[in-house]
Amino acid sequence: MKDATVSFIGSGVMAEAMISGILGQGLTAPGHITASDPRQERGQELRERYGVLATTDNREAVQGKGIVVLSVKPQVMPGLLEELKEAISPEALVLSIVAGARIKAIAEGLGHQSVVRVMPNTPAQIGEGMSVWTATPAVSEHQRSQAQSILRALGEEVYLEDEDYLDMATALSGTGPAYVFLFMEAMIDAGVHLGFSRRVAQQLVLQTIRGSVDFAERSAAHPAELRNMVTSPGGTSAEALYQLEKGGFRTVLSRAIWAAYQKSKYLGELSSKEDRD
Ligand SMILES: NC(=O)c1ccc[n+]([C@@H]2O[C@H](COP(=O)([O-])OP(=O)(O)OC[C@H]3O[C@@H](n4cnc5c(N)ncnc54)[C@H](OP(=O)(O)O)[C@@H]3O)[C@@H](O)[C@H]2O)c1
Repeated sequence: MKDATVSFIGSGVMAEAMISGILGQGLTAPGHITASDPRQERGQELRERYGVLATTDNREAVQGKGIVVLSVKPQVMPGLLEELKEAISPEALVLSIVAGARIKAIAEGLGHQSVVRVMPNTPAQIGEGMSVWTATPAVSEHQRSQAQSILRALGEEVYLEDEDYLDMATALSGTGPAYVFLFMEAMIDAGVHLGFSRRVAQQLVLQTIRGSVDFAERSAAHPAELRNMVTSPGGTSAEALYQLEKGGFRTVLSRAIWAAYQKSKYLGELSSKEDRD
């Protein structure tokens, strides 16, 4: 990565998390990073905070043979692809974190072969993300390892060869924080219902979730075994688990994740169709 240039097209929340991660890991120098954004004040902010270069001109930002990160909202993509068509050096790597934007649509839209598509998630903002990624055959070994280094600065990363897995990852890890936050909220509300102050209920729930994750990670046991460990015969866990199963907790969760997967595929097909139209 040393001396590699990295240009962000769209310099919002995720781009800032990536800039912070890249600089935190010392992957490249601030002077090699360019943040492009329509709002000049946003560029100014990032320049002051990280010492990076800033511009409002996307075409100027993609000059060079380094890495071009597409970090705009999905609805901006069609116009952006048109704006940047044939503007990126064939030697550069395009890395897209745009939800739902298919590799084919990006490659054809830009007229560019080397594309990495990533599905990150929200905890990437604090370096605890889960990124699932795939790459076109034109991406070189060197570029793959550059992409991997960048994603490792955001948390954990998993490379998968088939792009279909990105739709699955969208439903599991990409959308996953929404399920966990809802679960968290419901537990906190239940704690308040029992009589705890919201502050104490929140502390109890967050530490319980964090501790359970750490415990599951350090233990070799299957989650069902861990659950059995805390379920004494005729006890409180057995009573609560009975109600959760009776309410269809497992099935509802499975259906929700399946629905998110279907929606991700549908949105991907829709955006590819729009790009063709
Ligand atoms: N946030 C997450 O946790 C997360 C997780 C997984 C995936 N993603 C994906 O990451 C991408 C970025 O998300 P984000 O949360 O960072 O969004 P964001 O904070 O809204 O950042 C997008 C930035 O792009 C700028 N922009 C708009 N039009 C542009 C254009 N034509 N050229 C260049 N920049 C333009 C926006 O400026 P204005 O605000 O002035 O319009 C904004 O600063 C999205 O596609 C999202 O699906 C995000």
